[in-house]
Amino acid sequence: MKQKERRPGAKTPSGSPGHRRNDERPNRPAKPAAKPAAARETVREAATSPAIERPLQTRTGDRPAERVPVILESLGAGDFHLIDSGNGQKLEQYGPYRIIRPEGQALWQPSLPPHVWEKVDAAFTGDVDEEGTGRWRFPKDALGETWPLHLLGVDFFGRFTSFRHVGVFPEQIVHWAWMKEQVEQAGRPLKVLNLFGYTGVASLVAAAAGAEVTHVDASKKAIGWARENQALGRMEKLPIRWICEDAMKFILREERRGNTYDIILTDPPKFGRGPNGEVWHLFEHLPLMLDICRGILSPKAVGLVLTAYSIRASFYSIHELMRETMRGAGGVVESGELVIREGGLDGKTPGRALSTSLFSRWVPK
Ligand SMILES: C[S@@+](CC[C@H](N)C(=O)[O-])C[C@H]1O[C@@H](n2cnc3c(N)ncnc32)[C@H](O)[C@@H]1O
Repeated sequence: MKQKERRPGAKTPSGSPGHRRNDERPNRPAKPAAKPAAARETVREAATSPAIERPLQTRTGDRPAERVPVILESLGAGDFHLIDSGNGQKLEQYGPYRIIRPEGQALWQPSLPPHVWEKVDAAFTGDVDEEGTGRWRFPKDALGETWPLHLLGVDFFGRFTSFRHVGVFPEQIVHWAWMKEQVEQAGRPLKVLNLFGYTGVASLVAAAAGAEVTHVDASKKAIGWARENQALGRMEKLPIRWICEDAMKFILREERRGNTYDIILTDPPKFGRGPNGEVWHLFEHLPLMLDICRGILSPKAVGLVLTAYSIRASFYSIHELMRETMRGAGGVVESGELVIREGGLDGKTPGRALSTSLFSRWVPK
């Protein structure tokens, strides 16, 4: 479990096509500065500090009802769809670009013929150990680092990152569509907290739907990208607080101050660091993080959504944790997987389901 997650730009065997593990997502888009040995000691202490500040609460009352397994499936949306998959790779459409990326879950053979896979705009190679687009191959024209995309009414940049990602995790569309609907139907401005918010697409979707959003991420670079996305869609006036901080520290402070949220989205990596070296280890800190999230849910909360890309166990691990955490709150906990359905070249021809992650969601009813 303590296995170190790969950092953006770091070269490992798993960086090559066909070796993708399910937990390989950026925990920090910004390249971390190397720390001297003494500083590392301090960092290790920081890893335990949240638990010292606030022990886990003993939750009593009935556990919420349950709905399992729930498979939340996307057949694309807006400018995105999954075209085909196979041979440890996936072929995706992001706006004008057809892109190949490694996909360890695609154990089967592609449905579409090789000439379709050959005529792509970009393919992640992972074979050059450098930042930016250096790890991508552009078989047609050399492409810029970013390009505009549109999803769920929101504009943002696709981006060839050194970590094989493209600035958006499209399987999250199902969570964002659910959240958009809740915000639009609430009849009051909901307060949304987006923890580990990355490039901010979820924050923009929520704000565009009418929510007051607080977006927290430890990476200055990711916050910068999120702000660029906001500017692209001319959404600067929407109420979004962009906060560059350690997620755990932020929620602990919100709890002390009595600030609450109607919807919390949390998508923690397996391992990450806060801006001041605070250490995030999913398996050590998840129970406390969820417990604090419970503590800052408003009395009229609409949902608490946890996505876990890095858990090797079944969805029951986070499902049972969510039910324990939400004891006495009523409602229902539904858990399962996020999958993306292949859509073929036209995006409308359902093919195979590609599994991406586990999730668990508490809702009041
Ligand atoms: C996998 S991304 C989340 C993706 C996002 N939910 C989405 O769908 O667009 C993980 C993010 O967590 C951030 N992160 C890592 N450690 C953190 C910490 N201790 N506190 C806050 N954010 C952190 C990283 O900078 C990164 O942007």
